[in-house]
Amino acid sequence: MCGIVGYIGERDAYPILIKGLHRLEYRGYDSAGVALLGSNGNLNIYKTKGKVKELEEFSQQKDISGNIGIAHTRWATHGEPNQTNAHPHFSMDESIALIHNGIIENYAVLKETLIQKGFIFRTNTDTEVIVHLIDFIRREEKTTLFRAVQLALQQLIGAFAIAVIEKGNPDTIIAARKSSPLVIGIGEDEFFLASDATPIVEYTKDVVYLNDNEIALMERGKGLKVVDLLNVEKSHVIQHLELTISQLEKGEFEHFMLKEIFEQPRTLRDSMKGRINIEENNVALSGVIDNSEKFKNARRIIIVACGTSWHAGLIGEHLIETLCRIPVEVEYASEFRYRNPVIYQDDIVIAISQSGETADTLAAVEISKAQGAFIYGICNAVGSSIPRNTHSGSYIHVGPEIGVASTKAFTGQVTALALLALNIAKVKGTITQETLESFVKELSLIPEKIEKILEKSDSIKRFSRIFTYAKNFIYLGRGFSYPAALEGALKLKEISYIHAEGYPAAEMKHGPIALIDSDMPVVVIATRNNLYDKVVSNIQEIKARNGRIIAVVTEGDAVVSKIADYCIEIPETHEALDPLLSVIPLQLLAYHIAVTKGRDVDQPRNLAKSVTVE
Ligand code: G6P
Repeated sequence: MCGIVGYIGERDAYPILIKGLHRLEYRGYDSAGVALLGSNGNLNIYKTKGKVKELEEFSQQKDISGNIGIAHTRWATHGEPNQTNAHPHFSMDESIALIHNGIIENYAVLKETLIQKGFIFRTNTDTEVIVHLIDFIRREEKTTLFRAVQLALQQLIGAFAIAVIEKGNPDTIIAARKSSPLVIGIGEDEFFLASDATPIVEYTKDVVYLNDNEIALMERGKGLKVVDLLNVEKSHVIQHLELTISQLEKGEFEHFMLKEIFEQPRTLRDSMKGRINIEENNVALSGVIDNSEKFKNARRIIIVACGTSWHAGLIGEHLIETLCRIPVEVEYASEFRYRNPVIYQDDIVIAISQSGETADTLAAVEISKAQGAFIYGICNAVGSSIPRNTHSGSYIHVGPEIGVASTKAFTGQVTALALLALNIAKVKGTITQETLESFVKELSLIPEKIEKILEKSDSIKRFSRIFTYAKNFIYLGRGFSYPAALEGALKLKEISYIHAEGYPAAEMKHGPIALIDSDMPVVVIATRNNLYDKVVSNIQEIKARNGRIIAVVTEGDAVVSKIADYCIEIPETHEALDPLLSVIPLQLLAYHIAVTKGRDVDQPRNLAKSVTVE
């Protein structure tokens, strides 16, 4: 979590850093800070509790001059979110400033040693040890800042993306990474650095993604230098980004989340572009075709993911088992990585991640890779760590997702999984041409069906107001709709802070039914499929106990509409693709309830979009 940004060049650094922090605020927003080497040679550090706009207010009337600086927006791990614990942290003589994203696991031991050497710690953070360690080494070894950073990093255990500047050295920024993301932008006589490319793309599209244990030296008037911790020079590849600024702005929408919900017809067209061919009724994913033997011979598929991506994985399990007849296990990456899992060489591990940076998912990838499995990534952020660590994969191509609660990434992931399952099934010969054709046709119709559902946003908004009283919600679904129910419940709790549980509808009788009374809203996905009658019985059971039912039904439903308190109709589609439609009203319901309750929809409390710590 945490966002870091840095600049060195001819321009004023402050506006670039502040704008960059706003772009990275999705990564954490409990405190923020900036360090600038001012035009008079001072190292000016301003920090505040709260969001970036509070930092801006705090820095008004202060010296914000200088064309070199670093800045940070925090998601607290060690030490409460307050002004002192906010980054940048600085050395005792206030000559070195440092920002950090990640966790230093051995900070306690290092801190103890540094205290014995006379260092005074001002904060409760793990990060402060890095800056004191650099300072200590710099003095002891009488060496350059760069060398001191390099030696200090050799002693760190954990994850870091850092940037360092020093008073009296206005021509240099040093940055380094291990297990936390770091991108360097290369402009004309200027460098940018950031946790992702969004703060950079406005100024340059040429970027370098640092690898683990690499240190970058950015010096005025010189080219980028990258070395490893042992000082071996590393070559770096400059990549050209496709990202545009409009993808990073809210436009006419009140929130990024609403914009991203409404973008889904387009983003799903983009996810499918070049991968399905409607004329030829075909699916072609290069990641599968290029590795067809691996997929043909896979003994088992293990899907690893977290949060919303894990919900997409549950739908993937259903799709792959149905279409490809390969056993699939879906694992929380955080559990999988510490369970000493059994992994076979003929296993395929699919890692699903919007950000491509989730620490647990990345670790699960590394463990599986080390044990010989073939790793396939389904990610959104191009060039991020997970796709760079997989053997093959598919980007979901939904563009930057900025709202902390995931929406368009979920539907992009489910679409990518549907394409993957269809392509594996084709390669394995477990699907008939007729079924393939019907799936391709239905997939191609999903975007316009979503457009129809989005037209209901205002009516969902109207009735959602009634439910702002609720302290709890239950979401039910069966089969393919069960993960959609989980996802609907997650959306609601993330952004409205109303407690919500997703359950397989039939499981309700084994506990949650005890909660049902006239205050309990129950959202049921009751679309027409082979489990429909059973779900209708579950609805009756809720009604008999006075629960308040909000049902998502297929257009023209005549049964549930008579029992439910509120019905949202969605177009009919293939059962396996139904979550792509049923999740849309659930996203809208959560959104409208949260807005009515006055919640900070795009940046809900305590959450962060990119979870780069365990
Ligand atoms: C965080 C985000 C979620 C996301 C999860 C996994 O919790 O707030 O929206 O689903 O991380 O992230 P990933 O980037 O790996 O999909």
